[in-house]
Parts: sequence; C-alpha cells; structure tokens
Amino acid sequence: MSHEHRLIANNRAWAERIRAADPEFFQKLTRQQSPEFLWIGCADSRVPANEIVGLMPGELFVHRNVANVVVHTDLNCLSVIQYAVDVLGVKDIIVCGHYGCGGVIAALANSRQGLVDNWLRHVQDVMRRHEALLAPLPTEAERARRLCELNVIEQVVNVCQTTLVQSAWDRGQALTVRGWIYDIADGLLQDLSIRIGRGDDIGRAQRAALVATATATRREPR
Ligand code: CO
Repeated sequence: MSHEHRLIANNRAWAERIRAADPEFFQKLTRQQSPEFLWIGCADSRVPANEIVGLMPGELFVHRNVANVVVHTDLNCLSVIQYAVDVLGVKDIIVCGHYGCGGVIAALANSRQGLVDNWLRHVQDVMRRHEALLAPLPTEAERARRLCELNVIEQVVNVCQTTLVQSAWDRGQALTVRGWIYDIADGLLQDLSIRIGRGDDIGRAQRAALVATATATRREPR
C-alpha cells in the first residue's frame, strides 16, 4: 500500500471508530465548533496538539508554526487569535513549546537551514534578550532547554500584547493566556508558571515566570 493510501485507510478506520462510539458525532460537528481553547504550538510532528491533551475534533482551535512564535506582524497567527477570541470566544490561549525543538536549537547554534533562518531570528531575539540567563548554563543542551522555556514565556507576553487580546480585556472578556512546555522524551506537559488574565501586570508575570522556571528541576537534561 502506498503512503497516501495508508493515510486514507487510516482515516476510514478512525472515522468508523468515532462513529461506533457516537453515531451522531460528525453530524453534531457540522452544526458548530465551540472550542474553549486556542493552542499555539510548534509545527513539530512529535507534538500533535489534540492528541497530547486528549481532546476531540471541535475542542481545540489550533495554530502551529516553527518554534511556536507569535510575531506582531504575522497576519496568519493574528487572524487565528482574532477569530478564536472574537468569534469563537475562547477563554484560554495556551502557548506550548517543547524541549528538543529543532527551531530553537538551530537559533541557538546560529546554524544555516535556509529561508526558515529568517523566521528563527525571532527566537534569536529572545536569546539575546535573555543572554544573562543563558550564558551561565554549563552545557549547550541546558541552554537549549532553557531557551525553549524562555521562548514560550516571551511568546505568551507577545500574545498578551496584541491589540486583539488587549481589546478583549478592555471589553471585559474573560481570557487567560498561559505557557506550557512538552517533553518529547516522556510525553508530559509542564506548566511554565506563567498565566496572565485581564488586569494582570504582564511584566510582573513574566519576571515571576523567569524566576520560577530558573529554579525548576525540569530543566535538568535527561
Ligand atoms: Co519545535
């Protein structure tokens, strides 16, 4: 069986399993989606958003790009945030990075990969901003893990600073932005101690997360 046919066959079996559990499942989805969460994660194939949090179709609105970066001029990401917040009314935005992120490692090593290097400049900006936290770490592996965390914290702040989230908060909309990190090595998510809602001081939340994650044991490389 060719690769493509294997995927189609998998799809038939998957849809059959879902229908067996709930014959109305797909019919209900055609009428509406009402996800409570927006997930902003890395495009990495090892971090499938719905799967790692055990959510079904219709439960998670997803944006993924290389190294889970939120850029203020990225119309694609901003449109996803706007639609999720204004139209779907999601109450939680999760920025989820992951250890072992190829984009973060490439940014750290300043290695040449092609066009994507331009995108990864944003991660290098994070790296430069937090040089004082990265430089003392003894190994490249530890710096990579730390930069994965710092990148999430920074992108959470970027989400909070978008006009979209600011406007939602101004309107009194309940909306929380948080940062998590996923470990490919054990399949577990960790909370990065950053959770920002309406009325919270973004700078203070960021500083607290930087301190909390600096002392956490999860930073130890396996
Ligand atoms: Co990645």
